Amino acid sequence: MTYDFFAPEVVGDPHSLLRRLRTENPVYWSPQLHGWVLTRYADVLAATREARLAAPPTTGWLDRLPEEVKQQFQPARASLRLWAGLCGEQEHLDFQAALKKFFTPSTLERLRPGVQRLTDELIDAAWEGGGLEVVEGLARPLTARVIGELLGLPTETREPLSRWAADLRCFFQSADLEELHRGQRSLLELQECVRPVIAARRHEPREDLISALASRTEGFFAQEPEAVVANCALLLFAGHETTSHLISSGLRLLLSHPEQLALLRDKPELMPSAIEEMLRYEGASDAMARYSTAPLELGGHQFDAGQLFVLVYKAANHDPEVFAQPERFDITRQPNRHLAFGMGSYYCLGAALARLEAQVCLRTLLRRAPRLRPASEPPEWTPLPPLGRRLRSLPVTF
Ligand code: HEM
Repeated sequence: MTYDFFAPEVVGDPHSLLRRLRTENPVYWSPQLHGWVLTRYADVLAATREARLAAPPTTGWLDRLPEEVKQQFQPARASLRLWAGLCGEQEHLDFQAALKKFFTPSTLERLRPGVQRLTDELIDAAWEGGGLEVVEGLARPLTARVIGELLGLPTETREPLSRWAADLRCFFQSADLEELHRGQRSLLELQECVRPVIAARRHEPREDLISALASRTEGFFAQEPEAVVANCALLLFAGHETTSHLISSGLRLLLSHPEQLALLRDKPELMPSAIEEMLRYEGASDAMARYSTAPLELGGHQFDAGQLFVLVYKAANHDPEVFAQPERFDITRQPNRHLAFGMGSYYCLGAALARLEAQVCLRTLLRRAPRLRPASEPPEWTPLPPLGRRLRSLPVTF
């Protein structure tokens, strides 16, 4: 039995393929992905907790290029090799230590008024027009400005952040040479933007993410100054498009389930639970790779060291063994132990921030626009093969 992760119909409906895999072949060797694809919740969860599985030292799609073409991407490869989660256990621990100190509940509460102000400004700008295109008019600019603020980038340099983040995607999805060159150009522009800020924060740290990394006096970030530059790109990549997708696809889910939207309007206290269901239902991180550092057993199979695994969080979140009627969008679902933020040693460091941004943004939109409606159907998706998709646009009227 073969399963085509790149078939055009998989973009519109990834779950039909994932459902088939989960029932027919839950531990499936994919020649397309060069790895073992795990789709059952129990197996994906076990994999996240398995100490013998680590994130592979990869430069994504660039690894697959012929040797002579790879040379053209030397700057991008050198930088991606320094992404903390991908380069080694000690580097990963140093990164987590630096960021955990930053992502405390008090930092997040400090950010809340800024997120509220930015949300209000973006809605104000669209108010007179009577409507808004949510992806480009709210979700993307809001989450880009928040991550720019968090990194500590000067306001006037933040405008291209959203474009840079979109271009960085190409390294981790199937992409052509032109896209890869664009990705590399954006990465280099981003590096030029953060370098002077890093230099300034080394002398005078502030309460921002760049300072958290640049002011380390020992370990990975002290010994390898380029790692600070590289991991600013990682943070932009990890924190912007994911949260933007949560906001826009979450709102689309509400608009296409009017009874759930009405329930949420009636009981606004359900917002946190509604956001968990949006994360479970549509997610934003579809799958992650791991490789085995030693022999192990997984999903009833034995594996040698050096095997690649693809943990499909998106499939685990729709496993009927764990989620009753998984295709039902239910904002009251309890319990809802989804894996949208991963689990184990790579668990998302920005989970609480993403939740905060989505809560503030969706709450404000629903409060200010009591008759919010979609302006067009059906939604258009940008395919991110394999298995990913992003809403291209979501026009709404107030
Ligand atoms: C809805 C929004 C988000 C989703 C769905 C999401 C999802 C994820 C997932 C699934 C992982 C684990 C990757 C793995 O298993 O290998 C992860 C890791 C990570 N995320 Fe998020 N994320 C979101 C928002 C954010 C935000 C706002 C930030 C803040 C900058 C962030 C920063 C990170 C970082 C730094 C890691 C790496 C953690 C580590 O390796 O220790 N994420 N995220």
